[in-house]
Amino acid sequence: MLKEQINRFQAEETPFYFYDLQLLQQTLDVCKNAADKYNFHVHYAMKANFNQKVLERIQKVGFGADCVSGNEVKKAIEIGFDPRKVVFAGVGKSDREITEALQNDIFCFNVESVQELGVINGLAEAQGKIAQVALRINPNVDAHTHHNITTGLEENKFGINHWELHDCVDALKKLPHVALVGIHFHIGSQITNLTVFKSLCVKVNEIHSWFEERGFNLKVLNVGGGLGVDYHNPDEKPIADFEEYFRIFDQFLERKHGQEVHFELGRALVAHSGSLISKVLYVKNGIKKHFLVLDAGMTELMRPALYQAYHQIESLSLGQAQEGNTVKYDIVGPICESTDCFGKEVELPESKRGDLIAIRTAGAYGEVMASKYNLRAEIKSLYSE
Ligand code: LLP
Repeated sequence: MLKEQINRFQAEETPFYFYDLQLLQQTLDVCKNAADKYNFHVHYAMKANFNQKVLERIQKVGFGADCVSGNEVKKAIEIGFDPRKVVFAGVGKSDREITEALQNDIFCFNVESVQELGVINGLAEAQGKIAQVALRINPNVDAHTHHNITTGLEENKFGINHWELHDCVDALKKLPHVALVGIHFHIGSQITNLTVFKSLCVKVNEIHSWFEERGFNLKVLNVGGGLGVDYHNPDEKPIADFEEYFRIFDQFLERKHGQEVHFELGRALVAHSGSLISKVLYVKNGIKKHFLVLDAGMTELMRPALYQAYHQIESLSLGQAQEGNTVKYDIVGPICESTDCFGKEVELPESKRGDLIAIRTAGAYGEVMASKYNLRAEIKSLYSE
């Protein structure tokens, strides 16, 4: 359990991220085995966590990398990801980022507009290369997740809308330095209702046929990421249901012989293996309220402030608490913002200055979204191997 794992770090200065690398490895192995069953390819969505040790583990499993900036592309290659397994996505790739990715001979650009196709074509021509591209298509499928992390609706900025597909096909015919290898979709993140993926498959099948009818033989169907995790039960369900997730795609996604299916999983691979460990600085009593003021805040973990995201909060100093004596606390950070709150009315053993608090399931979109606001120090990471 986390408490025992953290015991040996009692003397460490807080706050810090703690990564359980054993759980990470187990998660990666379960995902890899489940994907291998259907010969599915997984690209790790590096945006979820680009901590060095985490990346090294993921690279060793043999996954590719899904990158959304030039620096992510560089980092992936530095870590040892095969450039032929690196995909560069993102709605606003700069000319320099595209040029460098071309120099590295990455596998594919996920392209988000007709204009971008033209830009990549020009930059590839300058290097005498042909860039492989996949069109990111907005399938208008509701992911039934938090509004701020929904990406596959027509109101979102992401992807090419279906009424623009004719223009894309026309453009592709005139652009000799881009080669269409596939179509790409990503409808959102933290999707826990898996039937949503069935709806995605139905849409992908439709769009796939549209391309076939126009004579395109697509090598790759990339269905993005988005598999959610159980933030409410990190100990009961530490590994996401990869088996069921891939089974749905196997059952509902129509594919041709030799065609590859690619996934871009981020959160489900890393979320549960990370926790933010913090100390109680002050116990404060307001009107009908008790506050625990921690030494970590929204600068270390932004998700609660940004998306009202739930993270399980637990005391690691339980032994010192009086048996059965619990209090409902608002758990807040030191930052000068009222939204700097990790949870409201959280029931914890009566706590005191110096108690260690764990904020669970912080391995995805935690450390990577840390900010320097209030000139906060960079947060460090500790690991159990
Ligand atoms: N592919 C694309 C094109 C994406 O935009 C994303 C995530 C992924 C793959 C990986 O999705 P995942 O498997 O991790 O759900 N910061 C937010 C999440 C933003 C997700 C952005 N895109 C959060 O903390 O919940």
